[in-house]
Amino acid sequence: MKVLVMGGAGYIGSHTVRLLLDSQIDVVVADNLIYGHKEAIDERAFFVHADLLNPLSLEKIFEIHKIDAVIHFAAFAYVGESVNHPQKYYYNNVVGTLNLLDAMLKHNVKKIVFSSTCATYGEPLYTPIDELHRQEPINPYGKSKLMIEKIFFDYEQAYGLQHISLRYFNAAGASHDAVIGESHDPETHLIPLVLKVIKGERADIKIFGDDYETADGTCVRDYIHVEDLASAHVLSLGKLNNFNGCLNLGTGIGVSVKEVIKSAEEVTSKRCHFSVIAKRAGDPAKLYADNRKAIDVLGWEPQYKDIKDIIHSAWKWEISKRY
Ligand code: UFG
Repeated sequence: MKVLVMGGAGYIGSHTVRLLLDSQIDVVVADNLIYGHKEAIDERAFFVHADLLNPLSLEKIFEIHKIDAVIHFAAFAYVGESVNHPQKYYYNNVVGTLNLLDAMLKHNVKKIVFSSTCATYGEPLYTPIDELHRQEPINPYGKSKLMIEKIFFDYEQAYGLQHISLRYFNAAGASHDAVIGESHDPETHLIPLVLKVIKGERADIKIFGDDYETADGTCVRDYIHVEDLASAHVLSLGKLNNFNGCLNLGTGIGVSVKEVIKSAEEVTSKRCHFSVIAKRAGDPAKLYADNRKAIDVLGWEPQYKDIKDIIHSAWKWEISKRY
């Protein structure tokens, strides 16, 4: 089996590429390297410099390689930026995916596993959030991902597309051997920022609000280890024949911002200075997954359930990172 991984140089993509290769699956990685890192691409994979908005670059991949299925990670994913530059998000994420689907259908490739997000739900009406929760995203990033989920169902009806959209909660951690991990520029995510404070690279972590309706007043999220996300993608490839639809990927466990900070202090035996500032626009108080459908459909089970283990893997990477 040969799989095209669009965005395979990115954070979640690069971990999935490694696991695919370890599972004896041939991999072609395509990435425009705008946010991806060449160093993150496993040497066993065939790399192609391609861009979703350059249909010819996609076309060439399918002409040269006999691709059986596509895993599609390539997207812009900064929520705040998407509010200020929706054009960038709708073009890259939506038009780009339509271009990818064009190339796939032209070459009779009908299997796709897609990176979706819990941001497609918008402000939650209840937690844990299951896949039947209404979807009303509150920013262009979440809307762009929801549009693609819907396009897949129409393509299924008309062209027989087989699709699984994986709605990630908060991806976190690094590979077990600390060879690859999270590296964003700019970095906006909580765990890497906390670890940079502990490393002495930043003075403190700003907590966005501590008067939410949660046990300690700070926001609660569901942190899911990046290798658990990777394993769900590999399992999804095997299920494309019998399941079309959307699955939540989370641990089902909610962890607050203050709990993340405290856990990071315990894991590293170092202090993390913090200060509390105003709430960030669009941050719901609590987001965590009902993950039973993914467990049932995929036979998947997250291996990392303790936030300290997730932070430990992120810390090993943070102090040894190569990119
Ligand atoms: N936070 C802080 N200070 C920071 C950074 C984050 O207090 O400097 C808090 C946030 O308010 C939030 C939690 O830490 O409560 C996690 O924030 P992240 O920015 O790490 O992650 P988000 O939950 O905002 O974003 C994630 C994904 C997005 C996805 C979104 C869905 O990274 O891609 O969940 O809500 F769209």
